[in-house]
Amino acid sequence: MGKDLQKVKRIAFICNGNSCLNKGAEDTTVQLRAAIAANELHDEVHTIRTRCTGQCEHGPVVFIHPDGTWYKGMLPELTAGLVKNHLLENNPVEDNIFFHP
Ligand code: FES
Repeated sequence: MGKDLQKVKRIAFICNGNSCLNKGAEDTTVQLRAAIAANELHDEVHTIRTRCTGQCEHGPVVFIHPDGTWYKGMLPELTAGLVKNHLLENNPVEDNIFFHP
């Protein structure tokens, strides 16, 4: 059975297009999901692997919905900080944002 969508507050789209995968997006995906679980955010943050999001020069790319925040260079070691600061404390990590509306 799928996740209870009533509880989902954010969705993290993790680019798994070829360019991002070549820059480590598989590890980014695994580490981001592990950090979400470790912070007990599994119910309120859903993750989705995507194909190319059209922003290859910024890879690995992670997009946070509904905030509209685009993260660049999301190497695996940066995912714990994204989860703690943005998803837990609502404090986006400015250094790795390349677009925010
Ligand atoms: S492969 Fe990730 S933005 Fe193109």
